[in-house]
Amino acid sequence: MQYLLGVDIGTSGTKSVLFDIEGNTIASSTVEYPMYQPHIGWAEQDPEDWWRATAETIADIIKKSGVNPSDIKGLGLSGQMHGMVLLNKEGQVLRPAIIWCDQRTQAECDQITEIIGKERLIEITANPALTGFTASKVMWVKNHQPDLFNQIDKILLPKDYVRYKLTGVFATEVSDASGTQFLNVPERAWSEEVLGKLGIDINWMPEVYESYEVSGTVNSEAARITGLGEGTPVVGGGGDQAAGAVGNGIVKQGVISSTIGTSGVVFAHMDKVSIDSQGRVHTFCHAVPNKWHVMGVTQGAGLSMQWLRNNFGNMEKELASFMDIDPYQLMDKQAEKAKPGCDGLIYLPYLMGERTPHLDPNAKGVFFGLSAMHGRREMIRSVMEGVVYSLRDCLEIVKDMDVSVTEVRASGGGGRSPLWRQMQADIFNNPIATINSSEGPALGVALLAGVGVGIYKSVEEACDTAIKVVSLQEAIEENVPVYDQYYEIYKDLYHALKDSFKKVASIIG
Ligand code: XUL
Repeated sequence: MQYLLGVDIGTSGTKSVLFDIEGNTIASSTVEYPMYQPHIGWAEQDPEDWWRATAETIADIIKKSGVNPSDIKGLGLSGQMHGMVLLNKEGQVLRPAIIWCDQRTQAECDQITEIIGKERLIEITANPALTGFTASKVMWVKNHQPDLFNQIDKILLPKDYVRYKLTGVFATEVSDASGTQFLNVPERAWSEEVLGKLGIDINWMPEVYESYEVSGTVNSEAARITGLGEGTPVVGGGGDQAAGAVGNGIVKQGVISSTIGTSGVVFAHMDKVSIDSQGRVHTFCHAVPNKWHVMGVTQGAGLSMQWLRNNFGNMEKELASFMDIDPYQLMDKQAEKAKPGCDGLIYLPYLMGERTPHLDPNAKGVFFGLSAMHGRREMIRSVMEGVVYSLRDCLEIVKDMDVSVTEVRASGGGGRSPLWRQMQADIFNNPIATINSSEGPALGVALLAGVGVGIYKSVEEACDTAIKVVSLQEAIEENVPVYDQYYEIYKDLYHALKDSFKKVASIIG
């Protein structure tokens, strides 16, 4: 038997999944770790946690599945994008990683725009300077921690730090590298111009591969810790969104995905580079060779539900552990009892600022329209609806870029909720497809590994082998106009509150 391994280094935890070459899940294992928020809007993680979780989950899978490690033909890495891992000459981590949802770097974004020029920056990196991207985080260290900056020898993305621990190689691949803002996205190579002008040594950047290419092999130390065979090939893999897209079969134009993970993403494959002139959606290299993608990103999707569960869901948590189910299932049950539109209760999911469409790190979460008749069930449902309104913001822009939408596939943890899928069908007024696997990024990078080691001829062939649509959820006709009305109010609310968000930001600093 031949097997492929996918490892997804996420924000709340790392999940490793072993697949057969038809894409069936053989075993999976997850280990969680914390995110640190030392100040409002800051978000950091310890890269050692990612490595420990990777090693533990791989070892667990090998033990649980009982497969012979030599039958694991290849491994792919997927990871939360944009995080900044800094290493010194000895390969030691210099400071906690500043991760994707950290919002501290607006001044550095202005600085980057000033140095490179707004248009030139978009021409090269396909995107305006954003607080989420790696470049502004490196500039923050340059401005605020010059002693550390002077010790930098390598700048890595989260999954590429894990690659370094697995293989000893400093490498990345085009899809994740696109989110650094140091890559020339049309040319799929580091931009000497951007790096040079920002004072960042190009030798600090890892080698860039296409996502299916073998970047290195598991070394003896990693083999000892994980149980993998020494010499197992590790392919480039992908940033979690591009990897998830491969795992959902989003490898041709027309089929798009709507993902509710910690963040929420609407993702479309593009045969050519296409850029939103206002930078509201990102244009990045796809994990398919010589293809690109656009994606709209809402910062606080699953994060909003997680926040609600963690702070107000003790009852659900306790009951769920007693019933041995997921607390979100109980939250869904309550939300089902509220009416679509929640009688005017609208939630803005801007807990970590917002990217698409507002590009505003100061934006904050809001419950609008509360009345004494609203209760727990409306609060939960309005959070779910608010997340889908923000995904509709993404979808509208993607459609404006002349992307024909023939099919929307739901994915991510939120895609497993039938209620959240129904809301997407109703709020997008488009049927929502579900595929046979819910392993998204882990499946995507396992398939890329299969291409890299020659099991499949191409990424498209790998997807055709492993991915099938299994159900289609239609919009409920009477819900569509209700949601349309509330979506208009949802859009107005941000503009009405924008100045207040700014004032609050200046008070809390
Ligand atoms: C994409 C993005 C998120 C993170 C975390 O631009 O920021 O998808 O990768 O999931």
